[in-house]
Amino acid sequence: MSRFGDDPLAFFNAVYRELPPWEIGEPQPDMAALLARHPPASPVLDVGCGSGDLALFLAQQGCQVLGIDFVAPAIAAAQSKASALPADVARRVDFQVADALALSRLERQFGAVVDSGFLHLLDSEQSERYVAELAVALRPGGRYYLHAFAVEFPVPNVPRSVDANEIQARFSAANGWRILDLYAGTFLSRVAPPVPATCACIERMAAFTQGL
Ligand SMILES: C[S@@+](CC[C@H](N)C(=O)[O-])C[C@H]1O[C@@H](n2cnc3c(N)ncnc32)[C@H](O)[C@@H]1O
Repeated sequence: MSRFGDDPLAFFNAVYRELPPWEIGEPQPDMAALLARHPPASPVLDVGCGSGDLALFLAQQGCQVLGIDFVAPAIAAAQSKASALPADVARRVDFQVADALALSRLERQFGAVVDSGFLHLLDSEQSERYVAELAVALRPGGRYYLHAFAVEFPVPNVPRSVDANEIQARFSAANGWRILDLYAGTFLSRVAPPVPATCACIERMAAFTQGL
C-alpha cells in the first residue's frame, strides 16, 4: 500500500474537490529560485503538475512544457488557466492526464524534469522505480529539479522527508547522475507555516543516457 492508501488516485481526486493546501497561486518560490540558478533546457516535463502553475510559469519564461498529473480535474484546471494566457505562451504548454510513475509510456525525452512535491509522495519501492523512469525520460545531460519536504510528520496522508543523504544515495555517480546543487529550503502552503525542504538540481550523465 502507498503512503496515501491502497488507492492514491482516489485520495488525490478527493483532495482536488476543494483547493488543495499546496496550491499557492504561483510556483513554489524555492523551485523558481532553483530554476533561475540552473536555467532548464526545453522541452520540460512537470511531473505531478497539479493545476499547472509551475508549467505555466516556465512557458511564460519561454520554455516548451508538458505537465502531467493523474487527476483529470487538475489537468482540466491547468488547461483552463493556459487558455486564458496569450496565444504564444499557451502554444508552448501542454497538459496530459498521465501516471508519473510510468514516464517511459510518454515515449519522449526531455531536457529537464521538474518535480515540485512529487518524489516526497512515494514510498521506497516507488521512489526507486521513479528514478529509473527519470533516467529514461531525460535526454543526455538533461536535468532533474527537485523540491521536496525535508521533515517527517507523524500523521497519515502527508508527504515523507527526502533528505540530502537520500538524494546522494539515489542519484549516485555510479548510477549515472551528477548532483549540481543540493541545499535546504522551505515548502510553502496555504494552511501551515513553511516546511523545511530539500532542493536539488541533478544532471543525467550523457554516457549513461538510453535512447528511446
Ligand atoms: C503535492 S502535489 C504538488 C502539485 C504541484 N506540483 C505543485 O507544486 O503545486 C502532488 C501532485 O502529484 C500528483 N500525483 C500523485 N501521484 C501521481 C502519479 N502517480 N502520477 C501523476 N500525478 C500524481 C497529485 O495529483 C498532485 O497534483
